[in-house]
Amino acid sequence: MAYSKNNKLEKVYAARSHEERRDAYDDWSTTYDQDVTSFGIQLPYVGASVFARYVKMGESRILDAGCGTGMHSLPLKLMGYTNFHGIDLSSGMLEIAKSRHIYDSLKQMALGERLDFADDEFDVTYSIGCLAPGNAPPHSLDEFVRVTKPGGLIIWSTHAHINEQTQLFHKHRDALTRARDWEIEFETAPFVSMPNGDQNIKHAVYVYRVN
Ligand SMILES: C[S@@+](CC[C@H](N)C(=O)[O-])C[C@H]1O[C@@H](n2cnc3c(N)ncnc32)[C@H](O)[C@@H]1O
Repeated sequence: MAYSKNNKLEKVYAARSHEERRDAYDDWSTTYDQDVTSFGIQLPYVGASVFARYVKMGESRILDAGCGTGMHSLPLKLMGYTNFHGIDLSSGMLEIAKSRHIYDSLKQMALGERLDFADDEFDVTYSIGCLAPGNAPPHSLDEFVRVTKPGGLIIWSTHAHINEQTQLFHKHRDALTRARDWEIEFETAPFVSMPNGDQNIKHAVYVYRVN
């Protein structure tokens, strides 16, 4: 069956400001999980597998940045990880996340701006499906580095197919490596993240250790 566009997703892609994006996700929140599940979303499985390979159980304070409905932290919580703290732009998405009882705290914050956390507050920053054109911008990574402890991990995804917009995320991660702010530990091969959705969209999941 041919992929047909989802008008809620198109509204997200069309957003030109934090406010428009927040409204688009608020509007999508109640059917978001159902829609991305119908696209065959792979990110929760790949993200959780990578996380479980690199993060020891039980000792980490975890920031889920762009937590959405909690779809990516849920499998980790079920496996026994604890101490999740979620932030997201959309109060609608945060409401769904709250109903899942995964998080010790949930706050509305915009990635791309200074986060309301102290330096080195987290052992792990986990951000899956959020840093991409139409969502949080590349310089969100700077704040991930600031709020994650030296020696801590930043596990995140972005688009792995390269075009004018997606390359900005790769340029930024390379700049942080050149500045010795972090070092790469692992990256997955690129994969089609929504096999029943837009086949052109590939993601990869990255693990960086903060210096
Ligand atoms: C594609 S969803 C993935 C969410 C989540 N990881 C999940 O699957 O449930 C992207 C999420 O990022 C949030 N988001 C987009 N831009 C953001 C920004 N600048 N700051 C904070 N959150 C943002 C959206 O509100 C949405 O919940």
